[in-house]
Parts: sequence; C-alpha cells; structure tokens
Amino acid sequence: MSTETSTTTSIPIETSLSPEAAQVVAENLQPTLTELIDLALTGKQLHWAVVGPRFKPVHEHLDELVDEHREYSDTVAEYMSTVGICPDGRAVRVAGDHTMDPVDAEFMDDAAVIDAMTARIKTVVTNIRERSGRVAAVDTAAEDLLIEVIRVLDKQLWMTSAQR
Ligand SMILES: [Fe+2]
Repeated sequence: MSTETSTTTSIPIETSLSPEAAQVVAENLQPTLTELIDLALTGKQLHWAVVGPRFKPVHEHLDELVDEHREYSDTVAEYMSTVGICPDGRAVRVAGDHTMDPVDAEFMDDAAVIDAMTARIKTVVTNIRERSGRVAAVDTAAEDLLIEVIRVLDKQLWMTSAQR
C-alpha cells in the first residue's frame, strides 16, 4: 500500500504553484497533517485515560486542544488540495509514519498526562518551525499557514507546561 505523497499532474485542479514548488509544499505539509492527526488522537486517548486530583481540568483542557488539532489538520489538508496535492489522512498513513511513540493504553496520572502532551506538542511545533523555513522560498502562503499553526501550538505548549 502506497504512503507516498502525490502531487497531481492529471486532475483538473488549477494552481498558481509550479510542480516543483508543490512538491516542496507536499513534503512539508503532509508530515504536518500526519502529526496534527496524531496529536488529536493522542489528546483524545489521554482525555479518556487521565486520573488523579486534577482529572476534571485536565480532561476538559485536552478536549480544547484536540478541537484545535482537528481544526488545523483540516486547514492544512484543504490547503494541500487547494494546491493540487492529495492529502493523506488515513489511519494507515498516520500509524505507518509513526513519528511519535504512542502513549500506553492505560490509565495515567494527571501529571504524567500533562508531561506526555507537553512533550508531544513541543516535538510537533519544533518540526513545524523547521518546515515553515523550508517552504518559505517556494510558497509564502504555505509558510503563512504553518506560522499560524506554530502560533496555536506554541500557545498550547504554554498552557500545558504551565500546569506542571
Ligand atoms: Fe469526552
């Protein structure tokens, strides 16, 4: 089963990007999409698994984070389609790319949940900062989109790490 990121040559989506620029955008937005879906799935898992004295605020905060991960995964995927790149948000792709170790499917103490989510958000936002630099030369719109995601994830990093 292919997990390659494809750029279009034969479907009727008109784009102002050159095929070469679209390829660079594909190489940087696909892993961003994968990681945002992974964050959303992990956040929901931890929302269900958290236990401890801070159960309620952590449980509820995780849903707020997941809503943003889902919103921005959709924004990234739709931008990919906009520039003629078919996004791959399939479970098999997210599992296959395996960029972050999965959390255990066990109940977790609230402090461990905050640590786990903080570490994952930091990994993803660090990766996206590198990608925004790579797309900047070929597509400022993609750069702008990634900067918006960075701002959202950095705010999340503040709000999770501040609970430690
Ligand atoms: Fe829930």
